[in-house]
Amino acid sequence: MSFPITRHRRLRGTAGIRGMVRETVLNTLDFIQPIFVTYGTGVKNEIGSMPGVYHFSLDMLKAEVDEIAALGILAVLLFGIPETKDAIGSSGFADDGIVQEATRLIKQWYPELLVVADTCLCEFTDHGHCGMVHTHVVDGVVHGDVINDASLELLTRTAVSQAKAGADIIAPSNMMDGFVQAIRTGLDENGFEHVPIMSYSVKYASAFYGPFREAADSAPQFGNRKTYQMDPANLREAIREADSDVLEGADMLMVKPALAYLDVIRTIRDQFDLPLVAYNVSGEYSMVKAAALQGWIDEKAVVLEMLTGMKRAGADIIITYFAKDAARWLRG
Ligand code: PBG
Repeated sequence: MSFPITRHRRLRGTAGIRGMVRETVLNTLDFIQPIFVTYGTGVKNEIGSMPGVYHFSLDMLKAEVDEIAALGILAVLLFGIPETKDAIGSSGFADDGIVQEATRLIKQWYPELLVVADTCLCEFTDHGHCGMVHTHVVDGVVHGDVINDASLELLTRTAVSQAKAGADIIAPSNMMDGFVQAIRTGLDENGFEHVPIMSYSVKYASAFYGPFREAADSAPQFGNRKTYQMDPANLREAIREADSDVLEGADMLMVKPALAYLDVIRTIRDQFDLPLVAYNVSGEYSMVKAAALQGWIDEKAVVLEMLTGMKRAGADIIITYFAKDAARWLRG
């Protein structure tokens, strides 16, 4: 055999050498664990389409947060299911709203644990859209769309009330135009200039959010989100969205969902220097859980491979319903 011959297998021969040349290493510090908080007492209900994920009433929340903190996870992302909904989502920006109350409790229990507040209205509006809508009825069918600029005012109130309650990071997921600037201005005017904005910059109108909408009771009651969330077919548009958010003052960028959008993660990583978050969304979780429950895949191996793929694609931070599991597995 003539020389040189490249023997790639030399670097794969033992666990030791594979460890030495590994390019991407997952770390528990990379993960954010989402939590669904709800009204009422004594509630710890498993979400049907998301085995292992629960709705917690505030009196049942402590054990969950204890577990997250003990695993060394740095941050939680809060979603709220309110007792009452209305056209403008006022329970989303009430000082005694469910997310605000949960934030206060968590910060009291664990001052060091970062509370990230998802800033959106779809969980709080009776129509399930992410802002204020105007509607008209044709032949008994409701049509309508979200009004951009009027919604910004409500979203800003929501972000400010979340920061007042002690949220460490504001994560607006509503996809209105100008939301980062509006929220940045509102936070600054209220003395929260130190609170970072983790912008859901590149958020696609994705079928992978299906289980979340059951979990958050936030399915749109008419129409869909395609007039504000992005078309899954578009990559260059992702750069324009991220560009706007940078100009408007975002501190972190996000791509959502993750699995079907690894090229988008890579592109945003290559073109922007801000910390980049990947959101491993509900449908991505449910698919793995369903297959694992059937015994069709090795859940641990599949999850760690997926999360590694997201990090290899360029994500610095991963929001995932698997955060607790992954933290446990990484401990060995
Ligand atoms: C709120 C919001 C959604 C998700 C996060 N924030 C739902 C949506 O846009 O319909 C989805 C999260 C998931 O699927 O895990 N706008």
